[in-house]
Amino acid sequence: MADVSLRIDDVHKHYSTVHARVEVLRGISFELADGDSLAITGPSGSGKSTLLQIIGTLDEPSSGAIRINGREPFALPEPELARFRNSEIGFVFQDHHLLPQYSVLENVLIPTLAYPAGDIEAPRRRALELLERVELDHRLEHRPAELSGGERQRVAVARALVNGPSLLLCDEPTGSLDQATAGAVGDLLSDLHGDDSILIVVTHSLELAGRFERRCELREGLCAEL
Ligand SMILES: Nc1ncnc2c1ncn2[C@@H]1O[C@H](COP(=O)(O)OP(=O)(O)OP(=O)(O)O)[C@@H](O)[C@H]1O
Ligand SMILES: [Mg+2]
Repeated sequence: MADVSLRIDDVHKHYSTVHARVEVLRGISFELADGDSLAITGPSGSGKSTLLQIIGTLDEPSSGAIRINGREPFALPEPELARFRNSEIGFVFQDHHLLPQYSVLENVLIPTLAYPAGDIEAPRRRALELLERVELDHRLEHRPAELSGGERQRVAVARALVNGPSLLLCDEPTGSLDQATAGAVGDLLSDLHGDDSILIVVTHSLELAGRFERRCELREGLCAEL
């Protein structure tokens, strides 16, 4: 397997609204390699989600470049970019984004449906294995509404990992959880993060941030490594 790497080079991002031009990111640069984990902290509105969306290829920077595994994702035409995102990036959102009408197992399988490969049983085996690791193998047929907040986040983590992404990006994965449950989700992220992937977690929790090898704080559009 090729080495995993992420390189962010002088990324700027502004939004133009009818009222104003909002400068959110003013020159962010850093580099991560496989096995690295990074926590991003910073005040509300400092651009943490914006940066994560750019790294996750969901939003383009206004200027600057990002390279994932040596490739420039935004240079790809949209169908290839979608495929790249599906295979290389796992996203855990603050409010889980599970689909309410589907079961736990079906939710975890959703990312595997877009580009089916040869062995149709393989994704199911991987989903079941991940659900076992997040200790939800007794809840396979539950709908998201029938789970606790921590259980929903654990399903979201399993879903983000099902395609074996190079980058696991988590935006406030423990934001809506009590301290004990947040600790358990934090442990889970550290456990599941292997030597062949990069983990980036946005968090307000200094306790959670303290678990990661590298930490940076976003402030006034710049990123200071702590
Ligand atoms: N689509 C948009 N159009 C205009 N401004 C935006 C847009 N999205 C975000 N912003 C502004 O960009 C800034 C950064 O937003 P962002 O969501 O990245 O902050 P954040 O650090 O994730 O905050 P929080 O901790 O509250 O989640 C905010 O001031 C926000 O108002
Ligand atoms: Mg945010």
